[in-house]
Amino acid sequence: MTGPSNKTLVGTVALVTGASSGIGAATASALASQGASVALAARRKDKLDALATEIRGQGGTAVVLESDVTDEGQATEAVERTVAELGRLDTLVNNAGVMLLGPVVDAPLSEWQRMVELNVMGLLYCAHAALPHLLHAAEDSPRRVADMINISSVAGRVARAGRGVYNLTKHGVGAFSESLRQEVTTRHVRVSLVEPGATSTELAGHNRAEVLEIMRSQFTNIELMHAADIADAIIYIVTRPRHVAVNEMLIRPTEQE
Ligand SMILES: NC(=O)c1ccc[n+]([C@@H]2O[C@H](COP(=O)([O-])OP(=O)(O)OC[C@H]3O[C@@H](n4cnc5c(N)ncnc54)[C@H](OP(=O)(O)O)[C@@H]3O)[C@@H](O)[C@H]2O)c1
Repeated sequence: MTGPSNKTLVGTVALVTGASSGIGAATASALASQGASVALAARRKDKLDALATEIRGQGGTAVVLESDVTDEGQATEAVERTVAELGRLDTLVNNAGVMLLGPVVDAPLSEWQRMVELNVMGLLYCAHAALPHLLHAAEDSPRRVADMINISSVAGRVARAGRGVYNLTKHGVGAFSESLRQEVTTRHVRVSLVEPGATSTELAGHNRAEVLEIMRSQFTNIELMHAADIADAIIYIVTRPRHVAVNEMLIRPTEQE
């Protein structure tokens, strides 16, 4: 028999959306290394399978949920499968997102649709499906607390030219999170907003070539954060004692003005 575990999330279950790359993948790994069983949701099954294999290789528990959370049915199913396969839901990390920048004038409407469908509706579908389970976990789990972490951005605090609809979606995430926080915090579901600055992931790569050119000129000379830096912040939030709720965390690379 081994001695008592010092892993603070042992016995808990976390669902991470957008777990196939970047901040989501790093967060899922970090949660698993704290002892949480993790459900990994995204569209690219091969990436999720590779991460699940890595987590299991380190003694963790991971399930792969191939899902497009912009589809209400698939988002709900991701939550329900997490509970069915891992037994409960203590932590939802609403991370899946897309950032398509460029001027509003003549922007392709399809880019705006993709951002609203994922950053707003995908997050809302997951939140809606998860809330009954989080409220239940906060009532009857040994920790008697549960967490919803919504990933916003510096762009959710500060609007800038050339980022209009991304700003809109992330400001929306902030407003929704604060309103929901007030509704459920006395029932010990903590709603936390995490607002990263520039972090080295696949996120920027989905932009049009001309937009990428402008972005490169903005961030060439600074040392970006790594996905693990944001995962670290999320681990800090979810491992606070029951009476402490970190409502909001704005994190920039030191060299980002
Ligand atoms: N990187 C930054 O500088 C930065 C700064 C501030 C905020 N953020 C926020 O951080 C979050 C994570 O982004 P990241 O930087 O880690 O970028 P990333 O590497 O591009 O990760 C985005 C994740 O979202 C998933 N995703 C995309 N569409 C999806 C869909 N329809 N259904 C389910 N999953 C979907 C992607 O997986 P699949 O393609 O496999 O589905 C991927 O796992 C986003 O909300 C982003 O806005 C990032």
